[in-house]
Amino acid sequence: MTILVTGGAGFIGGNFIHYMMKKYPDYRIICVDCLTYAGNLETLEPVMENKNFKFYKVNITDRTAIDKVFSEERPDIVVNFAAESHVDRSIENPEVFLMTNIIGTQVLMDASRKYQVTRYHQVSTDEVYGDLPLDRPDLFFTETTPIHTSSPYSASKAAADLLVQAYYRTFQLPVTISRCSNNYGPYHFPEKLIPLMIANALNDKPLPVYGTGENVRDWLYVEDHCRAIDLIIHKGKVGEIYNIGGHNEMKNIDIVKIIVHALGKSEDLITFVSDRAGHDMRYAIDPTKIHRELGWLPETKFQDGIKKTIQWYLDHKEWWERIINGEYKHYYERMYGDR
Ligand code: NAD
Ligand code: DAU
Repeated sequence: MTILVTGGAGFIGGNFIHYMMKKYPDYRIICVDCLTYAGNLETLEPVMENKNFKFYKVNITDRTAIDKVFSEERPDIVVNFAAESHVDRSIENPEVFLMTNIIGTQVLMDASRKYQVTRYHQVSTDEVYGDLPLDRPDLFFTETTPIHTSSPYSASKAAADLLVQAYYRTFQLPVTISRCSNNYGPYHFPEKLIPLMIANALNDKPLPVYGTGENVRDWLYVEDHCRAIDLIIHKGKVGEIYNIGGHNEMKNIDIVKIIVHALGKSEDLITFVSDRAGHDMRYAIDPTKIHRELGWLPETKFQDGIKKTIQWYLDHKEWWERIINGEYKHYYERMYGDR
């Protein structure tokens, strides 16, 4: 079995590669990643020398290079994690989101058709459903909730999902799509809420909470997401969409306070800053389908997952310090300087 994983030098793709190589030591895993600011080869260091692993520094929008990888490696399964993934950056500069998230998906699906893969899996997001109001805790996103996007990021992911469904219906490409809620865990790039707050708190820097901090996200430990994708690519039904989430809704401000207390810091570090444009209020996944059809349930409780995550950032300071002291510094100044 050969699985081609795109975006494997990023947060979830990297965790997925580690998960799969441990669980299926006989599988060949081919990683395609062009190493944007979010891609980090250090994340893949533990598997780089494994004879069943190969890395290609290739952009998924580069049709010729992608064709070459497919012709050399002949993957059975493709799992597409590669994306521009940060909402705030999509507000600053939408274009690269359309290129990677939409055109890149098309290029990968064209190669998947040509080389007749047995499964093309698209890693999508709950953000394609838009948001839910705070005063309707009875509402959840199901797979049939209409697509209703808010940011250039979520619009680009939704466009890709529609294209994937079109390739299934028109060309019978054997596809599946998963839509997951917010992940957290090791190797999470420190521009995102949880790692940013951990890094800032450790450096006694202000903790910038957007708006009032009342926005709700549905947090899932990254390994639970990896296990769900493993199940979908092996046992999921072609043409289907699966929501992934563990009913773990939390307000941003509560997450930040948990981190502050776990690190023994003062709540005085918390600073309310101007809100994100178009900020989604609440995400909440209904995971009934994946539970019923594939037997998936999350295994890591938030109180355990957040402890493990904080410990990982304490143990791997060099991983995130190199990021925050590098080019990322300029982004941080632009994004938070006058906020
Ligand atoms: P990430 O930003 O940490 O990593 C993205 C990876 O893709 C990086 O390694 C980057 O170098 C690579 N990449 C970007 N553009 C590329 C291109 N044109 N060609 C090749 N490689 C490219 O993202 P993440 O948080 O790991 O998210 C992975 C996927 O999961 C994305 O598709 C995202 O939409 C989806 N998702 C993320 C979350 C979350 O909470 N992080 C939740 C649900 C779904
Ligand atoms: O729901 C899945 C999505 O989760 C994925 O599709 C995205 O790729 C991923 O980035 C994530 O999107 P969010 O916008 O929810 O994640 P982020 O970590 O950027 O923000 C989480 C919440 O925290 C959001 O309400 C904004 C807020 N926030 C974020 C940052 C970076 C702050 O209050 N302050 C901050 O500095």
